[in-house]
Amino acid sequence: MRIKCAIIYGEESDQHHVLMDSAKDYFDKVLAVPMDSLRVVYNEEGIKIMYKTTDLTDFDCVFLRVFGNEMLFGENIPEILETEGVYTQVDVDSLTIASNKFYMIKVMEDGDLPVPKTSYTLSTTETERAAESLNYPVIIKIISGYGGKGVMKANQKSDLTPIIDTLTLFEQDICLQEYIENPGEDIRIIIIGDQTYAYKRIGGREEFRSNISAGGKREPYELSEEMEEVAVKAAKICGFDFCGIDIIEGQENGDFFIGEVNASPGIAGTEEVIEEPIADLLMEYLYEQTLKKKTETKKRFKKETKEKKESED
Ligand SMILES: Nc1ncnc2c1ncn2[C@@H]1O[C@H](COP(=O)(O)OP(=O)(O)O)[C@@H](O)[C@H]1O
Ligand SMILES: [Mg+2]
Repeated sequence: MRIKCAIIYGEESDQHHVLMDSAKDYFDKVLAVPMDSLRVVYNEEGIKIMYKTTDLTDFDCVFLRVFGNEMLFGENIPEILETEGVYTQVDVDSLTIASNKFYMIKVMEDGDLPVPKTSYTLSTTETERAAESLNYPVIIKIISGYGGKGVMKANQKSDLTPIIDTLTLFEQDICLQEYIENPGEDIRIIIIGDQTYAYKRIGGREEFRSNISAGGKREPYELSEEMEEVAVKAAKICGFDFCGIDIIEGQENGDFFIGEVNASPGIAGTEEVIEEPIADLLMEYLYEQTLKKKTETKKRFKKETKEKKESED
């Protein structure tokens, strides 16, 4: 039995090369597919996800590595894959949740997970009102931003208003959040199934964002049981078999909040602090899940064929 895997990627980087290299050690065939070369086709034969002349629904595993607005284009892909019995690491609704920072916070809040107070606004006036009730400083986020880009901090109204005016001019929806007082650090937890791999990210000088792409550095970190539980639950609620969870620690002892769940966390460069071959662990997991899905789909097909035959007899 040959097991085929496609990796759909939004932006070419070291990250997806690391995934490709590792995938080749587990799957019999691995194909890299740039997101912008995909064609989703509905016709009389059904639904296909075409890349050049290849139909990705003929693959066994499709791994999605997408960001921001690409998630909106890819929103329907998990459902198509599910219908066709193809394994993917995200649930049917996951990209819809992950493409909107406000919706994601709402989904986690509904699941009783600790999240910062957040509002969603359209106009400058409403955003100013929301900021007053959250108390300054406040964090402003473009709902589909990533890599720290699109996250800003306003210490007072005179900082906030010009930011909001500018974002409104560029027709960006705004997510406003209470600022969790912290020294520019957060904890990144990579989730693979039920396993957690954590490290601390320390932002650059005078920088409140701890993203590595904004100059942050990684440090080893020992995860508490409570944080581990919350992170695994957040991944389940958002429907990810693989994701990265940002945790911001508050001032009170033991206080912490989920900043966001990342659909496509970076893994290249994390081995040093995690001290585990993370890309291999991920691919091994994806391979096992793919085999499981294949067996289930086969069983389902056999059962359906048997039922059909019985009803015809
Ligand atoms: N509510 C907040 N309070 C304090 N710091 C925050 C808050 N939200 C985000 N940050 C900081 O900004 C960084 C980027 O925010 P995040 O929402 O994760 O956006 P991105 O998707 O761009 O990574 C976080 O890693 C964290 O360091
Ligand atoms: Mg983040």
